[in-house]
Amino acid sequence: MTIINPSALLTPDGIVTGMAVAFDNTVRAVAPKAQLLRDYPDADLLEHDRPTLLMPGLVNAHVHLEFSANKTTLKYGSFIEWLYSVIEHRESLIDACDRDCLDRTVRTMLENGITAFGAISSHGTDLEAAAAAPQKVVFFNEVIGSQAAMADALYADFVTRLEASEALRRRGFHPAVAIHSPYSVHPALIKKALQLARTRDLLTTAHYLESPAERDWLDRNEGDFKPFFNDLLQQSYAVNDARSFLELFAEQPTLMTHVVHASDDELSLLAAGGHTVIHCPVSNRLLGNGAIDLAALQRHGIGWLTGTDGLSSNYTLDLFEEMKIALFMHSGAPLERLAQQLLNSVTVDAANALRLNCGRIAEGKDADMLWLELDHEPHPQTPLHLLLRRYPLLQIYIDGIPRKGARS
Ligand code: BEZ
Ligand code: FE2
Repeated sequence: MTIINPSALLTPDGIVTGMAVAFDNTVRAVAPKAQLLRDYPDADLLEHDRPTLLMPGLVNAHVHLEFSANKTTLKYGSFIEWLYSVIEHRESLIDACDRDCLDRTVRTMLENGITAFGAISSHGTDLEAAAAAPQKVVFFNEVIGSQAAMADALYADFVTRLEASEALRRRGFHPAVAIHSPYSVHPALIKKALQLARTRDLLTTAHYLESPAERDWLDRNEGDFKPFFNDLLQQSYAVNDARSFLELFAEQPTLMTHVVHASDDELSLLAAGGHTVIHCPVSNRLLGNGAIDLAALQRHGIGWLTGTDGLSSNYTLDLFEEMKIALFMHSGAPLERLAQQLLNSVTVDAANALRLNCGRIAEGKDADMLWLELDHEPHPQTPLHLLLRRYPLLQIYIDGIPRKGARS
């Protein structure tokens, strides 16, 4: 048993002082230090000579490990130009992301305080690295393909990848299902993949209404996607529209990534379906997709998380950076409240949405925690300063095991 006596704890409602935490693999008790020392007299007591904060480890709900070799290859600024550049360089980027590259990426996330993540896997080349990661992982096997004639072969390939991930299932590694997007997956394929997910009680995710181009294509079969589909896939109309796509998910609460261009009606459907949105602010900016309307999500009662997306559309996998960008991107939102919501979106809310027993420092939760050194005695605006400044991580715990400096 270990007891940490920080200057403050971060909770979903803000900063709490005067509490220490006793934990082994899980949090056993949160109480004043004197009480914990009485209850656990043999525990190791950890304290620090400067102010510290203990907070939950961060949960990155959306990342693409397979694209981690990208630095400056892919073209930023417009979604469709980025997509053409992905298609041109996909194979060389995936080949360049060997096991070393994948392990380094996982390690970088850990060093940035990310103790759990949701990995979207398009090809399965990241399976072994993800399964070996020290973090908790939800491994989303992705299905993609808009051509009806290809649906059976693509479904078979998806099932093979899903089974390979099931073979590695263990505590902390959870196979799951990703539907790429409304424009890129035929409804027959979506139905089959969702049916399998429901039968096996697997989590599901999808990209949804990311770009203005997607909006134009789904609504009117027009816009930037028109030449793309005409030339590359010989298609002149979208295989789903925005509403019919969501209707396929009516029985399946899903993590919907981006949702930058949803209408009021679609937001109502998202709320009715119990879906959760994953906001990826850096990716949205770099691909020219604009800024999500968080206030509209809140009006509709839709929960939202913050994710990094992959290094295909980001320069780092760092949720502290992502939260800071979001804080400035949504410049009309009340400052302190948004800071706390962002922190919740990468801790308690993300853990709940990914069905992980972490994200809060509370009795019975897995001891996934970050111990940070502050430069001030904690006060009510400390959550805001967590985003503005980069406080050194004294230690990172996953299941109560110290991971900083440890080889993974
Ligand atoms: C397809 O496989 O149909 C597809 C893939 C990527 C973007 C759009 C469509
Ligand atoms: Fe993505």
